Amino acid sequence: MENFTFYSPTYFVFGKDTENEAGAYVKKFGGSKVLIHYGGGSVVRSGLLDRIKASLDKEGIGYVELGGVKPNPRSGLVYEGIELARKEKVDFVLAVGGGSTIDSSKGIAAGTLYDGDFWELYQRGWSEKALPIGTVLTIAAAGSEGSGDSVVTKEEGMLKRATHGDVLRPKFSIMNPALTQTLPPYQTACGITDIMAHLYERYITSTKDVEVTDRLIEALLMTMIHEAPRVMKDPDNYEARANIMWAGMMAHNNSVGVGRSQDWLSHDIEHELSALYDCAHGAGLAVVMPNVHRYNLKHDVMRFAKAAVRIWGVPMDFDDPESTALEGIARFRSFLTSIGMPANFKELGAKEEDIEKLADVACNGDTRPGYLEGFVKLTQKDIENIYRMCCE
Ligand code: NZQ
Ligand code: ZN
Repeated sequence: MENFTFYSPTYFVFGKDTENEAGAYVKKFGGSKVLIHYGGGSVVRSGLLDRIKASLDKEGIGYVELGGVKPNPRSGLVYEGIELARKEKVDFVLAVGGGSTIDSSKGIAAGTLYDGDFWELYQRGWSEKALPIGTVLTIAAAGSEGSGDSVVTKEEGMLKRATHGDVLRPKFSIMNPALTQTLPPYQTACGITDIMAHLYERYITSTKDVEVTDRLIEALLMTMIHEAPRVMKDPDNYEARANIMWAGMMAHNNSVGVGRSQDWLSHDIEHELSALYDCAHGAGLAVVMPNVHRYNLKHDVMRFAKAAVRIWGVPMDFDDPESTALEGIARFRSFLTSIGMPANFKELGAKEEDIEKLADVACNGDTRPGYLEGFVKLTQKDIENIYRMCCE
């Protein structure tokens, strides 16, 4: 196991009706003037926004609001939020929504305290100051409720980039699984796929002897395999939603990723798809992941064979471990199809003729060094090959 530090300061408030305590938690963490940030309207339609405002009113906490976050959040609204937060002297940002709203909130929180253009934080990849953030989560997916990451898309050039920092970890996150019951099935499935991706990106490691985190990741992936069909069949299954929601947080606050190298190539390769086509991140991952795994398989066949045996129950073929590994990847792909995820470029709405452009931006866009590095190092040609596999 490698040396590590791990800081996860978020206060989690989990369960039914917990959103009504939002105001009390803002107060607990020192907020006196709040920017409530939300998305395209689901929280207005469900009445959640009104409940949040009522809980702030109850505590005598003032607020301004800014809605309109789009999935794959854009830099334009972050600039608007920064201006508003400065003008209104906001001292706390409360995100009410999914990963996109939370990430946009993190951009505003960091950008408000940054002297230069906030996009520089996403170019260089790290942030060191931010207003405190709280979240009320409405979809189990990105894990931003517990992570120190934020992903934003710059409209100019459609560049999707991330910034990281412990200051971006929420002070509190309110997680009521019942709030996710209004999700359309496709969005539920996209979230499940993203959660599984966060687990796989950590499972695919070059670090030896990391049994404790291997086993934790396997448990979480097996939980997803068990709960996903239950929730797809019965969207009102609170218990299944609860298990998925907590797994989604654990998948990405990095408690299961410490002390080991991680991959993240599927994410890097996917982000260009959701930037260019504005598809859901989870749907892009469903197309990309099995192909990235197949492409990189030979780098460490036994790692993928281990996943196949332990997670997917494939019998180990000691004479031909590669066939075991490939069967695991095939089962993963069928699972994703079974919950309604696209399997290739066509089903995703991506175009074969864009492959060279996609690979170019992935490698060279903004401040990238000309390649991608994770479990293996991928050249632009490798990435083109992977996108081509995604067309099958
Ligand atoms: O905008 P509204 O109207 O709220 O609708 C949203 C949106 O259309 C809807 N939705 C959310 N909760 C709902 C609901 N509809 C009905 N009922 C509810 N309870 O779902 C749609 C998707 O929302 P979004 O916030 O985009 O989803 P998600 O949580 O999957 O976030 C995706 C973003 O997170 C980034 C992705 O790249 C993408 O931009 N990621 C962030 C990470 C992080 N910060 O740590 C890590 C991830 O790997 C990921 O890259
Ligand atoms: Zn993700």
